[in-house]
Amino acid sequence: MEKDFLEILRTLSQTVFVLSANNDQERHAMTVSSVASLSLKPPSMMVGVNKEASINEVLEKNSNFCLNLLKKSQQNIADTCSGTEEGEKRFTNDLWVSDNPVYLSDAQSNIFCKVIEIIPFSSHSIIVGEVKELKHSGKIEPLIYQDGKYL
Ligand SMILES: Cc1cc2nc3c(=O)[nH]c(=O)nc-3n(C[C@H](O)[C@H](O)[C@H](O)COP(=O)(O)O)c2cc1C
Repeated sequence: MEKDFLEILRTLSQTVFVLSANNDQERHAMTVSSVASLSLKPPSMMVGVNKEASINEVLEKNSNFCLNLLKKSQQNIADTCSGTEEGEKRFTNDLWVSDNPVYLSDAQSNIFCKVIEIIPFSSHSIIVGEVKELKHSGKIEPLIYQDGKYL
């Protein structure tokens, strides 16, 4: 069952985001693809985050986060934020803006949210966020992950 499940998941075309969030002491950014829109009224998003991910240290009810939708040319950022670097080293390029929340200025789009609910399920939590602000470049050239590689 698990093998077939993984095999089917590998066939999906997944849009790649970097989830970013911070508190007064630390900031975090991690590559995510378990992202979906949830409702229009209110505008809301959901994202699945592993309970062991370090960003959980700063995600709490009413805190802010940003879903930075990556462009095709930003595979290096996806790599940096999924393991080649850790913690603060993920913020070494100057495209990051220190705001509340911290966000990537050069992303295809930025979806700024406030955490409404954190729903634990097994190894992951579903973070439900109400959309508070949007930035959109108007371009449609997202970074896609499929079959274990970026397209
Ligand atoms: C394309 C791609 C998509 C990913 N999507 C998710 C995701 O939706 N949720 C998740 O918890 N981890 C996801 N990961 C794994 C995290 O990016 C990775 O474990 C990261 O290093 C976690 O951050 P940490 O090292 O600061 O804990 C994904 C990785 C890649 C390469």
